Amino acid sequence: MSSEASVPGPAGHSEDLPAEALAVVAHAAGDLRVRTVPLPVPAPDSAVVRIAFGGICGSDLHYWKHGAAGESVLKGPMVLGHEVVGTVVRSAADGSGPAAGTPVAVHPATPGGAGARYPADRPNLSPGCTYLGSAARFPHTDGAFARHAVLPSRMLRPLPQTLPLRTAALVEPASVAWHAVSRAGDLRGKRVLVVGAGPIGALAVAVCRRAGASDITAVDLHRKPLEIAAGLGATRTIEAGSDDAAARIAAVEADVVLESSGSARGLASAVSGAMRGGRVVMVGLLPSGNQPVPVSLAITRELELVGSFRFNDEIDDVIAALADGSLAVDGVITHGFAAADALEAFEVAADASVSGKVLLEF
Ligand SMILES: NC(=O)c1ccc[n+]([C@@H]2O[C@H](COP(=O)([O-])OP(=O)(O)OC[C@H]3O[C@@H](n4cnc5c(N)ncnc54)[C@H](O)[C@@H]3O)[C@@H](O)[C@H]2O)c1
Ligand SMILES: [Zn+2]
Repeated sequence: MSSEASVPGPAGHSEDLPAEALAVVAHAAGDLRVRTVPLPVPAPDSAVVRIAFGGICGSDLHYWKHGAAGESVLKGPMVLGHEVVGTVVRSAADGSGPAAGTPVAVHPATPGGAGARYPADRPNLSPGCTYLGSAARFPHTDGAFARHAVLPSRMLRPLPQTLPLRTAALVEPASVAWHAVSRAGDLRGKRVLVVGAGPIGALAVAVCRRAGASDITAVDLHRKPLEIAAGLGATRTIEAGSDDAAARIAAVEADVVLESSGSARGLASAVSGAMRGGRVVMVGLLPSGNQPVPVSLAITRELELVGSFRFNDEIDDVIAALADGSLAVDGVITHGFAAADALEAFEVAADASVSGKVLLEF
């Protein structure tokens, strides 16, 4: 045991904590390890959370497969994971944040930094923003795919006791989807097209449904994600590889399109499926650099192309909507694996034809 482990927490919150935690660590491309890492000594404003579930995200898969996610390149081992929920086992020593015993979701962002202008009410755009499990900066920001994680109490969002932690594991990606849908404007009675029905697209379908969209078409290359999207509220589905797909997508003439495939082809479909004067919200992350997309249509059809990046306080709305049942998204979760089987879990998560959201159980 380290000295940290034997130091009791604030009165009433002491618990013997292990000195190390089993964690899922990306070392380099193709080198994912499940191993113990030292549990950091909590700063006064940080709590110790016993992690219950962690959802595997595209960025985790990129670090595993390529040793990089976009511009963020691994320069050393990093604990993955930002879609985590658990229970506080030791509250922050400074008295901030939830008490021991509180189930919590985690807001993975730490906004900050200087050097670029951004609207003050949109801290997700701050230039120095760090995110759990991100190699955007060095030293990297460790994630929380670990049996125990030390997290700043300001990241912790108390969950209603009635909300199962397994469902709450979707809070982070659902917040991404909620933010994207909020960028689309008022959806009541609107016709929506969602291109790419992976977890983000499927969650966006559910959020659009809740926001009052009357007609939601989901497009994907595979049947499985389309089945999930239909279960979450898509009224029509289109297989992107089918012969008449291009014509059917163009015929949607959607008021709002959400691009959630993260591919240039998907964005091309999104542009073609928007009605004249419509809005395309781009939440799928494209590779950096130039992309072949028919942007000229955006000019002559007066399309609005809108970006969407992470989220801010939408996480609180998502937790409330999951808790009151108005956002029902359990269908997105297709698999659960013990953390020790993380490699198998990552392989399943990387195959969009068989899986939606894959959870690790710690
Ligand atoms: N902007 C943000 O803040 C943010 C946050 C999280 C994830 N993302 C991105 O959102 C995207 C979706 O995330 P996810 O977890 O659902 O990923 P995912 O890879 O599980 O899902 C993508 C889906 O798009 C489908 N697809 C691929 N090409 C297509 C095409 N041409 N037409 C139709 N469908 C196609 C795939 O079959 C897959 O089902 C990714 O690019 C991810 O990086 C963005
Ligand atoms: Zn994620």
